[in-house]
Amino acid sequence: MTILVETYTLANGVKIPKVGFGTWQTPDGDTAYNAVANALKAGYRHIDTAKVYGNESSVGRAIKDSGIAREELFITTKCPADTKTYDGALADFESSLERLGLDYVDLYLIHAPWSWREIGKSNDAGNKEVWRAFEDIYKSGRAKSIGISNFDVADMTKLFATATIKPMVNQIQYYVGFTEPKIAQFAQENGLLVEAYSPLATGHMLENEKIIALAEKYKVSTAQLAIRFCLQNGVLPLPKATSLGHIEDNARLDFKISEEDMKALNTLEDTARDFGHNPTQG
Ligand SMILES: NC(=O)c1ccc[n+]([C@@H]2O[C@H](COP(=O)([O-])OP(=O)(O)OC[C@H]3O[C@@H](n4cnc5c(N)ncnc54)[C@H](OP(=O)(O)O)[C@@H]3O)[C@@H](O)[C@H]2O)c1
Repeated sequence: MTILVETYTLANGVKIPKVGFGTWQTPDGDTAYNAVANALKAGYRHIDTAKVYGNESSVGRAIKDSGIAREELFITTKCPADTKTYDGALADFESSLERLGLDYVDLYLIHAPWSWREIGKSNDAGNKEVWRAFEDIYKSGRAKSIGISNFDVADMTKLFATATIKPMVNQIQYYVGFTEPKIAQFAQENGLLVEAYSPLATGHMLENEKIIALAEKYKVSTAQLAIRFCLQNGVLPLPKATSLGHIEDNARLDFKISEEDMKALNTLEDTARDFGHNPTQG
């Protein structure tokens, strides 16, 4: 069985395919349509998009045209970081479903605890209101699971204090040398699955000499090594690709990094130091 259809189980019992296909910076239209269509052909069953990516319509069209049964797919989208009201979140959810052409999503995430205009300045009162809307959406059955993204320990602690349903996922920036251990550990201890966004540091870690050398040892690509690293840490990687070669390469993950090499990778310094990091994620 390919790892693309192996699953983690969320706290509410929902099964989530262990590798997701990222679509940030994948332009709407042919590029997004072809990327998702090729990913589904290559065996990915979990697609990660967001309202702000502006490509939900093309993602939805590729899903529909694939002919794959809806229950075999896992689709995530996100409520924009700038939305911080109950009504705004409900309206965003409706518009995402409409663009995707779906009557439910498998996972709905708060994109960030702060607005894009004030990155790092968490809006706790706003997040509480948005989460209230998420709980109602979840209870309606139109999001099979709900979660958060870019939330640090303080953001999670505040949300947990008023939530009646705990988030099931925290999607954070996570790649070799930048694994946000405090956030990841706190999320896992509280029963949240950690999803790794930018598992290739948006491509910036692929030239790292240490990663290249280790990938050669396993006769795999640097991207494959980086994705496998997330999986072996119990985290769910979301590699993004538009080129068919990359899409197929990232689906071949049938190898195992030794415990010793995992230890070395887990103590490596940031493999993409010049790459931008969200200020709350250090
Ligand atoms: N929640 C959030 O705030 C947040 C933030 C960032 C990302 N995300 C999610 O996480 C996903 C992944 O993160 P990301 O978009 O930053 O990118 P990434 O997966 O870290 O890296 C993607 C880049 O690596 C290249 N690439 C992919 N596979 C490759 C391979 N096998 N060999 C060589 N190069 C390869 C891609 O090229 P091509 O495209 O040319 O194939 C692209 O330039 C996003 O798409 C999104 O779904 C979420």
